[in-house]
Amino acid sequence: MKKVYLVFPEKIGTISPRLYGAFIEHLGSVIYDGIYCGEDSGAEHINGFRKDIIDAVKQAGISVLRWPGGCFAESYDWKDGIGPKKDRPVRVGWWTKFDGIYETNQVGTDEFMNFTQLCGAEPYIAANITSTTPLNIRDWVDYCNSPAGTTTMAKLREANGHKEPYNVKLWGVGNENFGGGGNMTPQYYAWEFRRFSELMCNVTPDIEMIACGCGAQRDDYIWHREVLDNFATTRSPRKTVAAMALHYYTNSSDCLEPENFDKNDWNKLIGIAAGMEEAITRLWGMALGNQQEHIGKLAIDEWGCWYNSGDMTAPLWQQQSYQLDAAVAGLTLNIFNNHCDKILLATIAQMVNGLQSLFIAHGDQCFRTPTYHVFEMYKAHQNAQCIRTLAEDSDISVSASIKDNTLTATVVNLSCESGAVVRLDPLGGRFTGDATIRILGNGDLNAHNSFETPDYLVPIDTVAENFDGTLEIPRGAVATVSVSVL
Ligand code: AHR
Repeated sequence: MKKVYLVFPEKIGTISPRLYGAFIEHLGSVIYDGIYCGEDSGAEHINGFRKDIIDAVKQAGISVLRWPGGCFAESYDWKDGIGPKKDRPVRVGWWTKFDGIYETNQVGTDEFMNFTQLCGAEPYIAANITSTTPLNIRDWVDYCNSPAGTTTMAKLREANGHKEPYNVKLWGVGNENFGGGGNMTPQYYAWEFRRFSELMCNVTPDIEMIACGCGAQRDDYIWHREVLDNFATTRSPRKTVAAMALHYYTNSSDCLEPENFDKNDWNKLIGIAAGMEEAITRLWGMALGNQQEHIGKLAIDEWGCWYNSGDMTAPLWQQQSYQLDAAVAGLTLNIFNNHCDKILLATIAQMVNGLQSLFIAHGDQCFRTPTYHVFEMYKAHQNAQCIRTLAEDSDISVSASIKDNTLTATVVNLSCESGAVVRLDPLGGRFTGDATIRILGNGDLNAHNSFETPDYLVPIDTVAENFDGTLEIPRGAVATVSVSVL
């Protein structure tokens, strides 16, 4: 029996829905053939966007959609993607040299905004700061946010059929500028941030700008620290930085796709995923040390499993999602909940046909992956009060929250070898009545969904009468418990 303590009186904070976001980049078939099947597709769609994805995103409460990249953002000119679709230019994108795909600009700003509205999600736009000018990005914010009938950009938006402003609050200022985004030094980046952000917030003073923090899988904390240090010496970023981005992938160049790997690969990747907690704590510690709590929250806007890291070809797109992905998603979202006081938002990479995807789509077909089901199983945490939890066993990952006298506990059995009997022990409160228990995983570590068997791995619901806190979780599986509490 593995004990987990739920400390009811110790509240960590409210779990923002923004922790449950996803990333969609112009890369491989994430956009075209992914979210966007096109208006002539045989798949059911709304304005060319797959209806089954829209419905599923709403069902799981995916809250934020980050777009258009990623690395792609740093080669993107937003003006290519507005106006009549037939007149839009075809460009070489950032990823063309890897995926061989030319950017047709059929999905641009107005289409992305339409997709977010259909999904009921908040838009988060990543702005290019390496191959365009601050004025051009200022115009983009202007196009999105200026009131109807005011500026030339607002009138252009109206001429394109969108009179009312989109009021986009979340803006990334650059992407991975330590690497694919210009190979800058942290000092140089901080100055570029100033140049761009100053003009961007002229349009919308209260926009929330995300500065480029580190990619922690490379242990690149120094970048993060030096950007923070640079911001500490000036007034301006204090007004404008809402959070520092963190990119954290679960990858290891010596691990193959999970279909082929063994117990050592599983343990290694789970260990890397668990390292997210250290990254969050260390980076938050840096901000506290600099008295920069006001800008030091994290926007973890790329995370997830990236198999065969280092190989920029096939596994980067249409990576299959297995039981390991479900365990990593459950573990990571538990970490986010438990550190909800330090995180502004998080978006998994990438929502469709990418790395750790929620959906895989092609032609008129689409299925939900195990990772999708984890998001849906964790939905009840959104806007709930996270309480402190403690698992006695390191193979168990947990988070718990309370909303309207209902407790939601999400528990992952991280062991790939044996099932676990877990006992939830409430301290300072008690369970009342029956619990609903949902389990994703049947002990088959190769389990995954496919076009042929789209629902092979889905959550199975049971009711535990007069719940005493006990549940059984197969190896590698994710569980959600929902029960009334006093
Ligand atoms: O998600 C794929 C890529 O990973 C993104 O474009 C980039 O930001 C990161 O290196």
